[in-house]
Amino acid sequence: MKDYFISFAPMEGITGRIFRKTFARHFKGVTDYYTPFITPKEKRGLDKKDLKELIPENNKGLSIVPQILTNSSEGFNLTAKKLIELGYEEININLGCPSGTVVNKGRGAGALKNLDSLCKLLDGIYNESVKNGLNVSVKTRIGYSEADEFGKILSIYKKFPLAKLIIHPRTRMEFYKGRVHKESFSLAVREYTEIGAVERLCFNGELNNVSDIKSLANEFSNLKHIMIGRGLLRNPFLIEDTQLSEDVNRRKRLRAYLDDLLSEYLEEFNGSSTAILKMKELWFYIKESFEDSEHFLKDIKKAKGVLEYRAAVNVLFSNCDIKQA
Ligand SMILES: Cc1cc2nc3c(=O)[nH]c(=O)nc-3n(C[C@H](O)[C@H](O)[C@H](O)COP(=O)(O)O)c2cc1C
Repeated sequence: MKDYFISFAPMEGITGRIFRKTFARHFKGVTDYYTPFITPKEKRGLDKKDLKELIPENNKGLSIVPQILTNSSEGFNLTAKKLIELGYEEININLGCPSGTVVNKGRGAGALKNLDSLCKLLDGIYNESVKNGLNVSVKTRIGYSEADEFGKILSIYKKFPLAKLIIHPRTRMEFYKGRVHKESFSLAVREYTEIGAVERLCFNGELNNVSDIKSLANEFSNLKHIMIGRGLLRNPFLIEDTQLSEDVNRRKRLRAYLDDLLSEYLEEFNGSSTAILKMKELWFYIKESFEDSEHFLKDIKKAKGVLEYRAAVNVLFSNCDIKQA
């Protein structure tokens, strides 16, 4: 398998600092982590909660790219200034979030609806970032309603010095379902090859197993960068599976990862209910690492406290085989 630059996709509510540091302790292969979006706070840019997520002490040893969600270049620039002070060299803007409350304010994928406003937003951001020497990358969808909107969107992106263009080839209306439009990504590859900037492109979406990653490599031989979200939540060995042939002890390592994450959350939240809730969110994905887990998962979902949760996890581990690569 070719050596990709592999980013962990930002996932609000899941890939916060505790998740990132725990994941990195247990699994190899991720090059960098994009943070779940933060929104600019008036006057200060960042609030206490954002700072806790982003200060370098809380992200030691990891390469982190903070992500901002906004439709205001002033808001972006104010927040970016604070992030530069923290030492960040790349900041990402979210032009893909499909949630109703976000798009209704013209943010996330909502910014793709009005291309004049999109142009103004990027103009305001890149005028400032070029002065500050800041790398600003874009994470985008291919349109609001239809995939064929992407041509126009792409011609706007090409006007600005995007550090990277991360493409999730779906429209806003498709949310996270349905096939990804590889032909739209092809268009970007063609156009960015023409301007000699294909290395700035990153593919994101439905890379769920080794064969998805291999077919992408075959289809886009000059692609250097991929971003994976749910695939790594479901199978944290996914990247290792593309690289190693030896049999890693998946059961033992999965158990250690899940136990470690639980104790980190228990310590952070100073009580069990939030910690258990966080673990249940992860189980929605990681259940896919086990054979026939549905029945045993029910007790994990029902667990009320740490004791019930641990007991249910024990039962699942004793009864379910782990899926192999
Ligand atoms: C629960 C959840 C939260 C997400 N939060 C963010 C986010 O904060 N910022 C962002 O750019 N994308 C976010 N995404 C989108 C992912 O980063 C990614 O683009 C999407 O899941 C497709 O990639 P995948 O198929 O590898 O998961 C989120 C997706 C999910 C399912």
